[in-house]
Amino acid sequence: MTASQTFADLKNKLAEATDLKGAMALLMWDQEVMMPTGGIRTRARQMSTLSGIQHDLFVQQCGTLIRSLRGREQELSEWEQINFQAIVREFDRMEKVPTALVMEMQHAAVGAQHAWEQARKAGDFAHFQPALEKLLQLKLQEADALGYEKNPYDAHLETFEPGATAARLTEFFALVRRELSPLLEAIRQAPQVDDTFLNQEVPVAAQLAFTEKVLARMGYSFEHGRQDVSTHPFTIGMGPEDVRVTTRAKLSDVTECLYSSIHEGGHALYEQGLPMEHYGLPAAENASIGIHESQSRVWENNVGRSLSFWEYWFEEFRELFPDKLKGKSAMDVFRAVNKVTPSLIRTAADELTYHFHIMLRFEIENSLLNGEVKVAELPEIWNAKVKQYLGLDVPNPLVGVLQDVHWSHGSFGYFPTYSLGSFYAAQFMHKATEALPTIQAQLRAGEMGDFRNWLKHNIHQKGRLQTPENLALSVSGEMLNVKYFIDYAKEKFGVVYGIKIG
Ligand code: CO
Repeated sequence: MTASQTFADLKNKLAEATDLKGAMALLMWDQEVMMPTGGIRTRARQMSTLSGIQHDLFVQQCGTLIRSLRGREQELSEWEQINFQAIVREFDRMEKVPTALVMEMQHAAVGAQHAWEQARKAGDFAHFQPALEKLLQLKLQEADALGYEKNPYDAHLETFEPGATAARLTEFFALVRRELSPLLEAIRQAPQVDDTFLNQEVPVAAQLAFTEKVLARMGYSFEHGRQDVSTHPFTIGMGPEDVRVTTRAKLSDVTECLYSSIHEGGHALYEQGLPMEHYGLPAAENASIGIHESQSRVWENNVGRSLSFWEYWFEEFRELFPDKLKGKSAMDVFRAVNKVTPSLIRTAADELTYHFHIMLRFEIENSLLNGEVKVAELPEIWNAKVKQYLGLDVPNPLVGVLQDVHWSHGSFGYFPTYSLGSFYAAQFMHKATEALPTIQAQLRAGEMGDFRNWLKHNIHQKGRLQTPENLALSVSGEMLNVKYFIDYAKEKFGVVYGIKIG
Protein backbone atom coordinates (compact mmCIF):
# COMPACT_ATOMS: atom_id res chain seq x y z
CA MET A 1 0.00 0.00 0.00
CA THR A 2 1.29 3.48 -0.83
CA ALA A 3 1.81 5.96 1.96
CA SER A 4 -1.04 8.08 0.62
CA GLN A 5 -3.41 5.09 0.70
CA THR A 6 -2.45 4.41 4.31
CA PHE A 7 -2.99 8.08 5.05
CA ALA A 8 -6.48 7.86 3.50
CA ASP A 9 -7.23 4.87 5.76
CA LEU A 10 -5.98 6.88 8.71
CA LYS A 11 -8.21 9.79 7.76
CA ASN A 12 -11.22 7.41 7.67
CA LYS A 13 -10.39 5.99 11.08
CA LEU A 14 -9.90 9.47 12.53
CA ALA A 15 -13.28 10.45 11.06
CA GLU A 16 -14.84 7.48 12.88
CA ALA A 17 -13.21 8.63 16.12
CA THR A 18 -14.65 12.09 15.43
CA ASP A 19 -18.09 10.53 14.85
CA LEU A 20 -17.89 8.97 18.29
CA LYS A 21 -16.81 12.28 19.82
CA GLY A 22 -19.80 13.93 18.14
CA ALA A 23 -22.16 11.27 19.50
CA MET A 24 -20.75 11.87 22.99
CA ALA A 25 -21.18 15.60 22.49
CA LEU A 26 -24.83 15.05 21.67
CA LEU A 27 -25.29 12.98 24.84
CA MET A 28 -23.65 15.78 26.80
CA TRP A 29 -25.91 18.39 25.22
CA ASP A 30 -28.91 16.26 26.06
CA GLN A 31 -27.74 15.83 29.63
CA GLU A 32 -27.51 19.60 30.14
CA VAL A 33 -30.61 20.64 28.22
CA MET A 34 -33.15 17.82 28.03
CA MET A 35 -32.40 14.75 30.12
CA PRO A 36 -34.68 13.94 33.07
CA THR A 37 -32.59 13.91 36.27
CA GLY A 38 -33.27 10.19 36.79
CA GLY A 39 -31.36 9.38 33.61
CA ILE A 40 -27.95 10.25 35.00
CA ARG A 41 -26.76 6.73 35.92
CA THR A 42 -27.51 5.24 32.54
CA ARG A 43 -26.03 8.28 30.85
CA ALA A 44 -22.80 7.92 32.83
CA ARG A 45 -22.56 4.31 31.61
CA GLN A 46 -23.16 5.30 28.01
CA MET A 47 -20.53 8.03 28.16
CA SER A 48 -17.98 5.76 29.74
CA THR A 49 -18.58 2.99 27.18
CA LEU A 50 -18.35 5.35 24.23
CA SER A 51 -15.23 7.08 25.48
CA GLY A 52 -13.58 3.68 25.97
CA ILE A 53 -14.40 2.69 22.38
CA GLN A 54 -13.22 6.05 21.11
CA HIS A 55 -9.95 5.79 23.04
CA ASP A 56 -9.28 2.27 21.73
CA LEU A 57 -10.07 3.29 18.18
CA PHE A 58 -7.53 6.08 18.38
CA VAL A 59 -4.80 4.23 20.28
CA GLN A 60 -5.13 0.82 18.58
CA GLN A 61 -6.46 1.22 15.05
CA CYS A 62 -5.16 4.71 14.35
CA GLY A 63 -1.97 3.86 16.24
CA THR A 64 -1.22 0.94 13.89
CA LEU A 65 -1.65 3.16 10.84
CA ILE A 66 0.40 5.97 12.37
CA ARG A 67 3.28 3.59 13.11
CA SER A 68 3.21 2.18 9.62
CA LEU A 69 3.50 5.70 8.20
CA ARG A 70 6.46 6.69 10.34
CA GLY A 71 9.62 6.95 8.33
CA ARG A 72 7.60 7.17 5.10
CA GLU A 73 6.44 10.76 5.64
CA GLN A 74 8.35 12.05 2.63
CA GLU A 75 6.18 9.87 0.39
CA LEU A 76 3.14 11.88 1.48
CA SER A 77 1.98 15.07 -0.19
CA GLU A 78 2.88 18.29 1.58
CA TRP A 79 -0.72 18.70 2.78
CA GLU A 80 -0.78 15.13 4.13
CA GLN A 81 2.57 15.67 5.84
CA ILE A 82 1.38 18.78 7.67
CA ASN A 83 -1.69 16.94 8.92
CA PHE A 84 0.34 13.87 9.80
CA GLN A 85 2.74 15.90 11.93
CA ALA A 86 -0.17 17.35 13.88
CA ILE A 87 -1.67 13.87 14.38
CA VAL A 88 1.66 12.52 15.59
CA ARG A 89 2.08 15.38 18.08
CA GLU A 90 -1.19 14.42 19.76
CA PHE A 91 -0.54 10.70 19.56
CA ASP A 92 2.95 10.95 21.04
CA ARG A 93 1.72 13.00 23.96
CA MET A 94 -0.93 10.39 24.68
CA GLU A 95 1.52 7.52 24.47
CA LYS A 96 3.93 9.16 26.89
CA VAL A 97 1.55 9.00 29.83
CA PRO A 98 1.24 5.47 31.26
CA THR A 99 -2.33 4.14 31.36
CA ALA A 100 -2.00 3.43 35.09
CA LEU A 101 -1.22 7.10 35.72
CA VAL A 102 -4.14 8.25 33.54
CA MET A 103 -6.49 6.05 35.55
CA GLU A 104 -5.03 7.18 38.85
CA MET A 105 -5.49 10.82 37.82
CA GLN A 106 -9.10 10.19 36.80
CA HIS A 107 -9.75 8.55 40.12
CA ALA A 108 -8.04 11.32 42.07
CA ALA A 109 -9.99 13.97 40.14
CA VAL A 110 -13.30 12.36 41.12
CA GLY A 111 -12.15 12.42 44.75
CA ALA A 112 -10.92 15.99 44.46
CA GLN A 113 -14.18 17.17 43.00
CA HIS A 114 -16.10 15.58 45.82
CA ALA A 115 -13.72 17.10 48.37
CA TRP A 116 -14.06 20.51 46.71
CA GLU A 117 -17.85 20.28 47.02
CA GLN A 118 -17.53 19.27 50.68
CA ALA A 119 -15.13 22.14 51.32
CA ARG A 120 -17.60 24.54 49.73
CA LYS A 121 -20.41 23.22 51.90
CA ALA A 122 -18.27 23.63 55.01
CA GLY A 123 -16.77 26.90 53.83
CA ASP A 124 -13.38 25.46 54.76
CA PHE A 125 -10.44 24.94 52.40
CA ALA A 126 -8.96 22.31 54.73
CA HIS A 127 -11.51 19.77 53.41
CA PHE A 128 -10.12 20.18 49.91
CA GLN A 129 -6.42 20.34 50.78
CA PRO A 130 -5.46 16.61 51.00
CA ALA A 131 -7.25 15.74 47.74
CA LEU A 132 -5.63 18.67 45.95
CA GLU A 133 -2.20 17.70 47.27
CA LYS A 134 -2.69 14.20 45.90
CA LEU A 135 -3.83 15.52 42.53
CA LEU A 136 -0.89 17.92 42.35
CA GLN A 137 1.54 15.06 42.98
CA LEU A 138 0.03 13.11 40.10
CA LYS A 139 0.10 16.15 37.83
CA LEU A 140 3.82 16.51 38.54
CA GLN A 141 4.30 12.88 37.54
CA GLU A 142 2.32 13.55 34.39
CA ALA A 143 4.52 16.54 33.58
CA ASP A 144 7.60 14.34 33.99
CA ALA A 145 6.07 11.75 31.67
CA LEU A 146 5.19 14.37 29.06
CA GLY A 147 8.56 16.08 29.36
CA TYR A 148 9.44 19.77 29.50
CA GLU A 149 12.46 21.98 29.15
CA LYS A 150 12.52 24.12 32.27
CA ASN A 151 9.14 24.27 33.92
CA PRO A 152 6.73 21.38 34.68
CA TYR A 153 3.86 23.86 34.29
CA ASP A 154 4.73 24.17 30.58
CA ALA A 155 3.89 20.50 30.05
CA HIS A 156 0.33 21.22 31.19
CA LEU A 157 -0.01 24.50 29.31
CA GLU A 158 0.78 22.51 26.17
CA THR A 159 -2.41 20.48 26.68
CA PHE A 160 -4.61 23.54 26.25
CA GLU A 161 -2.40 25.98 24.39
CA PRO A 162 0.31 24.36 22.26
CA GLY A 163 3.53 26.35 22.36
CA ALA A 164 2.57 28.51 25.35
CA THR A 165 5.12 28.75 28.17
CA ALA A 166 5.03 30.16 31.67
CA ALA A 167 7.95 32.44 30.78
CA ARG A 168 6.01 34.03 27.92
CA LEU A 169 2.82 34.35 29.97
CA THR A 170 4.80 36.01 32.76
CA GLU A 171 5.94 38.65 30.24
CA PHE A 172 2.39 39.20 28.97
CA PHE A 173 0.91 39.60 32.42
CA ALA A 174 3.70 41.87 33.63
CA LEU A 175 2.94 44.22 30.75
CA VAL A 176 -0.80 44.08 31.36
CA ARG A 177 -0.28 44.80 35.06
CA ARG A 178 2.09 47.68 34.40
CA GLU A 179 -0.12 49.32 31.78
CA LEU A 180 -3.58 48.64 33.13
CA SER A 181 -3.10 49.25 36.84
CA PRO A 182 -2.96 53.06 36.30
CA LEU A 183 -6.05 52.78 34.10
CA LEU A 184 -7.92 50.91 36.84
CA GLU A 185 -6.83 53.50 39.36
CA ALA A 186 -8.07 56.34 37.14
CA ILE A 187 -11.40 54.54 36.71
CA ARG A 188 -11.72 54.14 40.46
CA GLN A 189 -11.41 57.89 40.85
CA ALA A 190 -13.72 58.81 37.94
CA PRO A 191 -17.47 59.36 38.41
CA GLN A 192 -19.16 55.95 38.28
CA VAL A 193 -21.17 54.77 35.31
CA ASP A 194 -24.92 54.28 35.77
CA ASP A 195 -26.21 50.87 34.75
CA THR A 196 -29.25 50.69 37.03
CA PHE A 197 -31.68 51.58 34.21
CA LEU A 198 -30.97 48.15 32.68
CA ASN A 199 -32.30 46.34 35.76
CA GLN A 200 -35.89 46.17 34.62
CA GLU A 201 -37.88 43.01 34.22
CA VAL A 202 -38.02 41.74 30.65
CA PRO A 203 -39.84 38.47 29.84
CA VAL A 204 -37.38 35.68 29.07
CA ALA A 205 -39.08 34.83 25.76
CA ALA A 206 -38.52 38.40 24.54
CA GLN A 207 -34.87 38.28 25.65
CA LEU A 208 -34.32 35.04 23.76
CA ALA A 209 -36.01 36.36 20.63
CA PHE A 210 -33.71 39.40 20.71
CA THR A 211 -30.56 37.31 21.09
CA GLU A 212 -31.64 35.09 18.20
CA LYS A 213 -31.83 38.14 15.96
CA VAL A 214 -28.32 39.14 16.98
CA LEU A 215 -27.01 35.60 16.46
CA ALA A 216 -28.55 35.46 12.99
CA ARG A 217 -26.90 38.80 12.10
CA MET A 218 -23.56 37.46 13.29
CA GLY A 219 -23.96 34.71 10.72
CA TYR A 220 -24.76 31.88 13.11
CA SER A 221 -26.72 29.34 11.07
CA PHE A 222 -29.91 28.11 12.74
CA GLU A 223 -30.13 25.53 10.00
CA HIS A 224 -26.96 24.06 11.49
CA GLY A 225 -27.59 24.89 15.13
CA ARG A 226 -30.06 25.95 17.77
CA GLN A 227 -30.16 27.92 20.98
CA ASP A 228 -31.53 26.56 24.25
CA VAL A 229 -31.37 27.52 27.91
CA SER A 230 -29.05 25.85 30.46
CA THR A 231 -27.59 26.66 33.88
CA HIS A 232 -24.12 27.33 32.49
CA PRO A 233 -24.00 28.58 28.91
CA PHE A 234 -21.93 26.46 26.53
CA THR A 235 -21.34 25.62 22.88
CA ILE A 236 -21.15 22.08 21.63
CA GLY A 237 -20.43 20.85 18.12
CA MET A 238 -21.44 17.52 16.64
CA GLY A 239 -19.24 18.45 13.66
CA PRO A 240 -19.43 21.74 11.70
CA GLU A 241 -22.96 21.01 10.47
CA ASP A 242 -24.62 20.82 13.88
CA VAL A 243 -23.29 23.32 16.41
CA ARG A 244 -25.55 24.23 19.31
CA VAL A 245 -25.39 27.03 21.85
CA THR A 246 -27.07 27.60 25.18
CA THR A 247 -27.62 30.76 27.12
CA ARG A 248 -29.11 31.74 30.46
CA ALA A 249 -31.57 34.49 31.24
CA LYS A 250 -32.27 36.55 34.33
CA LEU A 251 -35.59 38.35 34.46
CA SER A 252 -34.12 41.69 35.50
CA ASP A 253 -30.77 41.60 33.72
CA VAL A 254 -31.13 41.41 29.94
CA THR A 255 -27.38 41.77 29.42
CA GLU A 256 -26.70 38.40 31.05
CA CYS A 257 -28.67 36.65 28.32
CA LEU A 258 -27.46 38.88 25.51
CA TYR A 259 -23.75 38.56 26.25
CA SER A 260 -23.95 34.84 27.03
CA SER A 261 -25.55 34.34 23.62
CA ILE A 262 -23.04 36.49 21.77
CA HIS A 263 -20.11 34.82 23.56
CA GLU A 264 -21.32 31.31 22.76
CA GLY A 265 -22.30 32.47 19.28
CA GLY A 266 -18.66 33.43 18.69
CA HIS A 267 -17.53 29.95 19.76
CA ALA A 268 -20.19 28.46 17.51
CA LEU A 269 -19.18 30.47 14.44
CA TYR A 270 -15.69 28.99 14.84
CA GLU A 271 -17.10 25.46 14.91
CA GLN A 272 -19.50 26.09 12.03
CA GLY A 273 -16.63 27.63 10.08
CA LEU A 274 -14.29 24.62 10.32
CA PRO A 275 -13.69 23.02 6.91
CA MET A 276 -16.09 20.05 6.67
CA GLU A 277 -14.14 18.60 3.73
CA HIS A 278 -11.28 17.71 6.09
CA TYR A 279 -13.54 16.14 8.73
CA GLY A 280 -11.47 13.92 11.04
CA LEU A 281 -8.13 15.61 10.28
CA PRO A 282 -6.39 18.27 12.38
CA ALA A 283 -7.16 20.64 9.48
CA ALA A 284 -10.78 20.53 10.61
CA GLU A 285 -10.15 21.01 14.34
CA ASN A 286 -9.88 24.17 16.40
CA ALA A 287 -6.38 25.52 16.98
CA SER A 288 -6.48 25.72 20.79
CA ILE A 289 -8.63 26.69 23.75
CA GLY A 290 -7.13 30.19 23.68
CA ILE A 291 -7.93 30.70 19.99
CA HIS A 292 -11.43 29.35 20.61
CA GLU A 293 -11.86 31.88 23.39
CA SER A 294 -10.59 34.64 21.10
CA GLN A 295 -13.51 33.94 18.81
CA SER A 296 -16.10 34.19 21.58
CA ARG A 297 -14.50 37.28 23.09
CA VAL A 298 -13.99 39.17 19.88
CA TRP A 299 -17.76 38.98 19.34
CA GLU A 300 -18.76 39.52 22.94
CA ASN A 301 -16.39 42.38 23.79
CA ASN A 302 -14.77 43.91 20.73
CA VAL A 303 -18.03 43.82 18.75
CA GLY A 304 -20.91 43.36 21.21
CA ARG A 305 -19.69 45.88 23.76
CA SER A 306 -18.70 48.50 21.20
CA LEU A 307 -20.43 51.81 20.62
CA SER A 308 -20.86 50.90 16.94
CA PHE A 309 -22.82 47.81 17.92
CA TRP A 310 -25.15 49.81 20.16
CA GLU A 311 -25.68 52.53 17.59
CA TYR A 312 -27.43 49.92 15.47
CA TRP A 313 -29.12 47.71 18.08
CA PHE A 314 -30.28 50.38 20.52
CA GLU A 315 -33.63 51.07 18.85
CA GLU A 316 -34.63 47.43 18.87
CA PHE A 317 -33.18 46.81 22.33
CA ARG A 318 -35.16 49.63 23.99
CA GLU A 319 -38.43 48.06 22.80
CA LEU A 320 -37.79 45.20 25.25
CA PHE A 321 -38.10 47.47 28.29
CA PRO A 322 -41.31 48.48 30.06
CA ASP A 323 -40.23 52.15 30.03
CA LYS A 324 -38.57 51.90 26.56
CA LEU A 325 -35.38 53.29 28.15
CA LYS A 326 -36.86 56.76 27.97
CA GLY A 327 -34.25 59.50 27.93
CA LYS A 328 -31.40 57.01 27.34
CA SER A 329 -29.14 56.74 24.31
CA ALA A 330 -26.90 54.18 22.60
CA MET A 331 -23.99 55.85 24.41
CA ASP A 332 -25.66 55.30 27.79
CA VAL A 333 -26.09 51.58 27.08
CA PHE A 334 -22.53 51.34 25.75
CA ARG A 335 -21.22 52.86 28.99
CA ALA A 336 -23.48 50.72 31.18
CA VAL A 337 -22.41 47.42 29.64
CA ASN A 338 -18.76 48.40 30.10
CA LYS A 339 -18.97 49.38 33.73
CA VAL A 340 -15.82 48.43 35.64
CA THR A 341 -16.24 47.15 39.18
CA PRO A 342 -13.52 45.12 40.90
CA SER A 343 -15.23 42.05 42.30
CA LEU A 344 -14.30 38.84 44.08
CA ILE A 345 -15.81 36.44 41.56
CA ARG A 346 -14.00 35.80 38.29
CA THR A 347 -17.09 34.86 36.28
CA ALA A 348 -18.80 38.10 37.29
CA ALA A 349 -15.78 40.28 36.46
CA ASP A 350 -15.80 43.04 33.86
CA GLU A 351 -13.62 42.99 30.77
CA LEU A 352 -10.77 44.86 32.47
CA THR A 353 -10.45 43.46 36.00
CA TYR A 354 -10.99 39.96 34.60
CA HIS A 355 -7.33 39.69 33.69
CA PHE A 356 -6.23 40.39 37.25
CA HIS A 357 -8.28 37.35 38.29
CA ILE A 358 -6.47 35.23 35.72
CA MET A 359 -3.08 36.69 36.58
CA LEU A 360 -3.32 35.62 40.21
CA ARG A 361 -4.50 32.13 39.28
CA PHE A 362 -1.65 31.78 36.79
CA GLU A 363 0.93 32.89 39.35
CA ILE A 364 -0.44 30.46 41.95
CA GLU A 365 -0.55 27.51 39.54
CA ASN A 366 2.93 28.18 38.32
CA SER A 367 4.29 28.40 41.88
CA LEU A 368 2.45 25.23 42.91
CA LEU A 369 3.85 23.17 40.04
CA ASN A 370 7.32 24.49 40.80
CA GLY A 371 7.11 23.69 44.50
CA GLU A 372 7.47 27.34 45.50
CA VAL A 373 4.27 27.30 47.51
CA LYS A 374 2.40 24.56 49.35
CA VAL A 375 -1.24 23.68 48.85
CA ALA A 376 -1.88 24.53 52.51
CA GLU A 377 -0.79 28.11 51.85
CA LEU A 378 -3.26 28.73 49.01
CA PRO A 379 -6.01 30.57 50.93
CA GLU A 380 -3.51 33.00 52.41
CA ILE A 381 -1.72 33.62 49.10
CA TRP A 382 -5.00 33.95 47.27
CA ASN A 383 -6.34 36.56 49.66
CA ALA A 384 -3.11 38.55 49.56
CA LYS A 385 -3.13 38.67 45.76
CA VAL A 386 -6.79 39.69 45.60
CA LYS A 387 -5.94 42.54 47.94
CA GLN A 388 -2.93 43.52 45.86
CA TYR A 389 -4.55 43.32 42.40
CA LEU A 390 -8.18 44.15 43.09
CA GLY A 391 -8.02 46.04 46.36
CA LEU A 392 -10.57 43.75 47.97
CA ASP A 393 -10.75 41.72 51.17
CA VAL A 394 -11.88 38.11 50.82
CA PRO A 395 -14.47 37.42 53.53
CA ASN A 396 -14.58 33.64 53.05
CA PRO A 397 -13.08 30.96 50.76
CA LEU A 398 -16.34 30.43 48.85
CA VAL A 399 -15.76 33.76 47.14
CA GLY A 400 -12.00 33.20 47.27
CA VAL A 401 -9.84 30.17 46.64
CA LEU A 402 -12.78 27.72 46.45
CA GLN A 403 -14.76 29.56 43.75
CA ASP A 404 -13.53 27.75 40.61
CA VAL A 405 -13.99 24.09 39.76
CA HIS A 406 -10.84 23.88 37.54
CA TRP A 407 -8.25 22.72 40.09
CA SER A 408 -10.53 19.98 41.36
CA HIS A 409 -10.44 18.56 37.81
CA GLY A 410 -6.65 18.80 37.83
CA SER A 411 -6.88 21.36 35.02
CA PHE A 412 -3.68 23.29 35.73
CA GLY A 413 -2.84 25.52 32.79
CA TYR A 414 -6.41 26.18 31.68
CA PHE A 415 -6.96 29.61 33.28
CA PRO A 416 -4.45 31.51 31.12
CA THR A 417 -6.38 30.59 27.97
CA TYR A 418 -9.16 32.98 29.02
CA SER A 419 -6.78 35.94 29.00
CA LEU A 420 -5.02 34.72 25.88
CA GLY A 421 -8.46 34.75 24.24
CA SER A 422 -8.85 38.47 24.93
CA PHE A 423 -5.29 39.24 23.84
CA TYR A 424 -5.69 37.38 20.55
CA ALA A 425 -9.13 38.93 20.04
CA ALA A 426 -7.70 42.46 20.18
CA GLN A 427 -4.89 41.55 17.78
CA PHE A 428 -7.27 39.93 15.31
CA MET A 429 -9.68 42.86 15.52
CA HIS A 430 -6.81 45.25 14.83
CA LYS A 431 -5.77 43.24 11.78
CA ALA A 432 -9.34 42.88 10.54
CA THR A 433 -9.79 46.63 10.77
CA GLU A 434 -6.69 47.15 8.63
CA ALA A 435 -8.02 44.72 6.05
CA LEU A 436 -11.59 46.05 6.21
CA PRO A 437 -11.43 49.76 7.03
CA THR A 438 -15.22 50.08 6.90
CA ILE A 439 -15.81 47.56 9.70
CA GLN A 440 -17.07 50.10 12.24
CA ALA A 441 -19.36 51.74 9.69
CA GLN A 442 -20.74 48.29 8.87
CA LEU A 443 -21.35 47.48 12.53
CA ARG A 444 -23.15 50.81 12.93
CA ALA A 445 -25.41 49.65 10.10
CA GLY A 446 -25.93 46.23 11.68
CA GLU A 447 -23.81 44.51 9.02
CA MET A 448 -21.53 41.79 10.37
CA GLY A 449 -21.01 39.55 7.35
CA ASP A 450 -17.64 40.89 6.18
CA PHE A 451 -16.13 40.61 9.64
CA ARG A 452 -17.50 37.14 10.08
CA ASN A 453 -16.07 36.07 6.71
CA TRP A 454 -12.71 37.56 7.58
CA LEU A 455 -12.58 35.42 10.73
CA LYS A 456 -13.74 32.37 8.84
CA HIS A 457 -11.19 32.75 6.09
CA ASN A 458 -8.24 33.69 8.30
CA ILE A 459 -8.85 31.61 11.42
CA HIS A 460 -11.66 29.07 11.24
CA GLN A 461 -10.56 27.53 7.97
CA LYS A 462 -6.95 27.17 9.18
CA GLY A 463 -7.72 24.32 11.59
CA ARG A 464 -5.12 22.96 13.96
CA LEU A 465 -2.09 22.74 11.70
CA GLN A 466 0.11 25.24 13.53
CA THR A 467 0.60 26.58 17.05
CA PRO A 468 -1.69 29.45 18.10
CA GLU A 469 1.18 31.94 17.99
CA ASN A 470 2.16 30.82 14.51
CA LEU A 471 -1.46 31.16 13.46
CA ALA A 472 -1.36 34.73 14.78
CA LEU A 473 1.86 35.27 12.83
CA SER A 474 0.30 34.08 9.60
CA VAL A 475 -2.90 36.09 10.16
CA SER A 476 -1.42 39.33 11.46
CA GLY A 477 2.27 39.31 10.62
CA GLU A 478 3.39 38.94 14.22
CA MET A 479 3.26 36.55 17.15
CA LEU A 480 0.94 37.38 20.01
CA ASN A 481 1.49 41.00 21.03
CA VAL A 482 -0.35 42.17 24.14
CA LYS A 483 0.08 45.78 23.07
CA TYR A 484 -3.09 45.48 20.95
CA PHE A 485 -5.17 44.53 23.94
CA ILE A 486 -3.66 47.29 26.07
CA ASP A 487 -4.26 49.94 23.39
CA TYR A 488 -7.81 48.73 22.89
CA ALA A 489 -8.54 48.80 26.64
CA LYS A 490 -7.10 52.29 27.10
CA GLU A 491 -9.05 53.67 24.19
CA LYS A 492 -12.35 52.02 25.02
CA PHE A 493 -12.40 52.62 28.76
CA GLY A 494 -11.10 56.11 28.17
CA VAL A 495 -14.33 56.79 26.28
CA VAL A 496 -16.51 54.95 28.80
CA TYR A 497 -15.09 56.91 31.74
CA GLY A 498 -14.11 60.10 29.97
CA ILE A 499 -10.47 59.81 31.02
CA LYS A 500 -7.18 59.87 29.17
CA ILE A 501 -4.29 57.54 29.96
CA GLY A 502 -0.95 57.83 28.14
CO1 CO B 1 -15.84 30.86 26.24
